[in-house]
Amino acid sequence: LNPKQDWIEEAKKKAALRAVEHVKDKFIIGLGSGSTAAYAIEELGRKIKRDQLHILAVPTSYQAFMLAIKNGIPITTLDENPVLDLAIDGADQIDKELNLIKGMGGALAREKIVASASKKFIIIADETKKVKVLGEKHHPVPLEVIPFASKSVMLKIEGIGGTPTLREGTGKVGPIITDNGNVIIDAEFGSIQEPAKLEDRLDSIPGVVETGLFIEMADIVYLGARSTVKKCEK
Ligand code: 5RP
Repeated sequence: LNPKQDWIEEAKKKAALRAVEHVKDKFIIGLGSGSTAAYAIEELGRKIKRDQLHILAVPTSYQAFMLAIKNGIPITTLDENPVLDLAIDGADQIDKELNLIKGMGGALAREKIVASASKKFIIIADETKKVKVLGEKHHPVPLEVIPFASKSVMLKIEGIGGTPTLREGTGKVGPIITDNGNVIIDAEFGSIQEPAKLEDRLDSIPGVVETGLFIEMADIVYLGARSTVKKCEK
């Protein structure tokens, strides 16, 4: 790690620790995906052991599932527990209204389902994820799309002024396939002035399963900085 990455990893860990402080005995918890959420899963495993908690967790991805098992966190499903007490997840961009872009890990559909099933949704990130306007710095909005519809969805994205790219895998040739058997299209729109409107338009395209725009979903954001963690609330 170079020194820059070093402080970012520490900031992510500190934010994760703050989120896990919200966990109480008998909670049903949604486990997010990505490198920051992974720190929260590890801390949750330690907390369960230390405080002898009875917790059940719904993972949002195969990654979160494997990490939960590795860290001794008992798993449940949304079928058994359709209402969660708390979900903790990372994000790729966060604006001042706490709207988010998520999905660079390709887990956005399950992440959104779990967040919407949860009474409280806490986001953890390092402060480099904070932006003035979602979509700035050419950041795309990831969309989970049914493979059958990928070309027609891409055309429709172009029709509303976006630039779509089918996400390719690393360690595998061809497109990445999500945990739900779908593809990811990264759609770039530049700075997004009205994210709620864009979310509605994208959601109405047949074949789009979910979008990475999370509008008015986060209750609390913990932003890790070099020496502190900033708490932002709705
Ligand atoms: C995965 C996500 C992740 O939470 C997001 O990409 C942030 O990941 P990281 O904490 O590794 O930066 O939305 O679909």
